[in-house]
Amino acid sequence: MNAGVVARRPLIAGNWKMHKTIAEARTLARELCALALPPQIDVVVAPPFTALAAVADELKGSRIALAAQTMHDFAHGPYTGEVSAPMLVEIGVRYVIIGHSERRAFCGESDDAVNRKVRSALANGIVPIVAVGETASEHELGETHAKVTLQTRAAFADVATDDIARCVVAYEPIWAIGTGLVDSPENASAVIAQIRACVDGLAHARILYGGSMKGDNASALMAMPQIDGGLIGGASLTAPAFAAVIDGARAKASAT
Ligand code: PGA
Repeated sequence: MNAGVVARRPLIAGNWKMHKTIAEARTLARELCALALPPQIDVVVAPPFTALAAVADELKGSRIALAAQTMHDFAHGPYTGEVSAPMLVEIGVRYVIIGHSERRAFCGESDDAVNRKVRSALANGIVPIVAVGETASEHELGETHAKVTLQTRAAFADVATDDIARCVVAYEPIWAIGTGLVDSPENASAVIAQIRACVDGLAHARILYGGSMKGDNASALMAMPQIDGGLIGGASLTAPAFAAVIDGARAKASAT
């Protein structure tokens, strides 16, 4: 494995979505910094853009890394409302969520755009967390594997294998996001195995599960060898709920 490749350390990432004012974000970040985090687990939070600088300030000296929820693929230019990778690097962002299903659905983010953003993030030293997953109807029609294979191959087109191994993928069945309908550990694991197999380099990359992961189901999901952690929405919005998910990764961390 290339020296730049991170071993598959467990990773728990909190996606705060469009929640938290700057003041609220500071409070949550401070509460998270006060947790006793297991040293073998990487913990990441993705606040909204407006709170990134404040949260970066709160996280100084902690083991919690900062993520953005999206970015533009160009460094600068006439793209009203957009934020670029160099701007995020300046704030201290180390990860960026790319292709979340909400951005694909509500902001028209295409597979091509996801690929351009992945390449821009890597070129700027930011680790992409690429989200893929099927809708409820695709799930019912048995199209899950075809859908995630298509999305994954598109996301990593023309990306070097060593770079792919440094990336993170989040398998997030859309029907499980925010619904309380968590996928079974066996099914999530089978889909993740398929994702690993469809692009060279992903065997070494960290692949997370996302979709209603909470304290009461996290350890069963993360007990699966294919699942390296979680991308957490609702349960990342309070320190006790997020801590419970991180707790669910402890057994995995001691096994790695
Ligand atoms: P959820 O969201 O944990 O609230 O289901 C996950 C996500 O959208 O990343």
